Amino acid sequence: MSAPNKSYDPVEVEALKPEEIERMRDEAVAAIAAAPDLKTLREVKAAHVGDRSPLALANRELSALPPHARADAGKRVGQARGAVNKALAARQEELEAERDARVLVEEAVDVTLPYDRIPLGARHPLTTLADRITDVFVAMGYEVAEGPEVEAEWYNFDALNIAKDHPARTMQDTFFVDSGRGDGTRLGDGLGPDASGDVVLRTHTSPVQIRSMLDREPPVYVICPGRVYRTDELDATHTPVFHQIELLAVDEGLTMADLKGTLDHMVLSLFGEGLKTRLRPNYFPFTEPSAEMDMECYVCHGASVGDPDNPCRTCSSEGWIELGGCGMVNPRVLAACGIDADRYSGFAFGFGIERLLMFRHNVEDMRDMVEGDVRFTRPFGMEI
Ligand code: PHE
Repeated sequence: MSAPNKSYDPVEVEALKPEEIERMRDEAVAAIAAAPDLKTLREVKAAHVGDRSPLALANRELSALPPHARADAGKRVGQARGAVNKALAARQEELEAERDARVLVEEAVDVTLPYDRIPLGARHPLTTLADRITDVFVAMGYEVAEGPEVEAEWYNFDALNIAKDHPARTMQDTFFVDSGRGDGTRLGDGLGPDASGDVVLRTHTSPVQIRSMLDREPPVYVICPGRVYRTDELDATHTPVFHQIELLAVDEGLTMADLKGTLDHMVLSLFGEGLKTRLRPNYFPFTEPSAEMDMECYVCHGASVGDPDNPCRTCSSEGWIELGGCGMVNPRVLAACGIDADRYSGFAFGFGIERLLMFRHNVEDMRDMVEGDVRFTRPFGMEI
């Protein structure tokens, strides 16, 4: 009898001995059962199921066995690997369920907690009022136009027919912007069609009229909300920075009646039906004829006039509230913008919205509007 062929004898391959396979299986199953979390289970998987795990290595030894022994050993290895895989899947499922349950508790959101301790911001009431007024005109087909706040003197004064020696141009009224060059040259040089002139902080929104007419062919219908500057001290009734809204219409055949109708419509849109408006003669260099526009007091409707027992705070018992200046665009202004004044006519209106906000909401001190205190703005609502 020949001696046993060691390399062919399954019993001699250490890793394939039945008790050895059982030991590997039991060790793997025990490690799987002991894995406390998914991360450890992944390590256990690599050690006991991965390519270099004892059972995988044993599996590789199978090919070295003679065919009769291979089936038997293969079955044992296969069963052991099956048992390990099953244990692994079961533990995996168990640990995932535990994790999901834990996440539900740990990451639960208490929807009853206050969601934010920082209050929401909101737009300033002046901005919302300006938007509301602008909307009235946009609904009539007007276009919103804007211009720079640092403006060439030509647009702010000259093109508007404001004479060189007009008092509005003095240092007492207008903020002049230093060119900063120190060589006597003027910042405004070249800015306007008339190249000479200084640069100012615009004192009204009327320069936007000029820019709008130069930019467009008539007909022109624009509404121009914006910030303006004058050298006033800040007190209860003045502020050096305030807001105006300018209205300009240029078309064939426009008359003062169109202006009046447009202003009537604005007043009814903002204050309600049935309020009268009136125009009082006035003078502006850029309109001719010019007028001051008043609206009937929407609080007392004139009842407080001559009745000292029932004074009206809103109109100071005048019965009328002054809104702003208006008139037919001076033909010289049309000409400065290259518009044929024989063919076209226009009307314009300009007014300050701080005053409007004051009498519409009984604001007594203008400083409240510029200080940015939320206790002032909050009662106007939190429009965003
Ligand atoms: N620009 C003028 C002012 O600031 C108001 C105004 C505008 C007057 C348009 C007439 C026409 O006082």
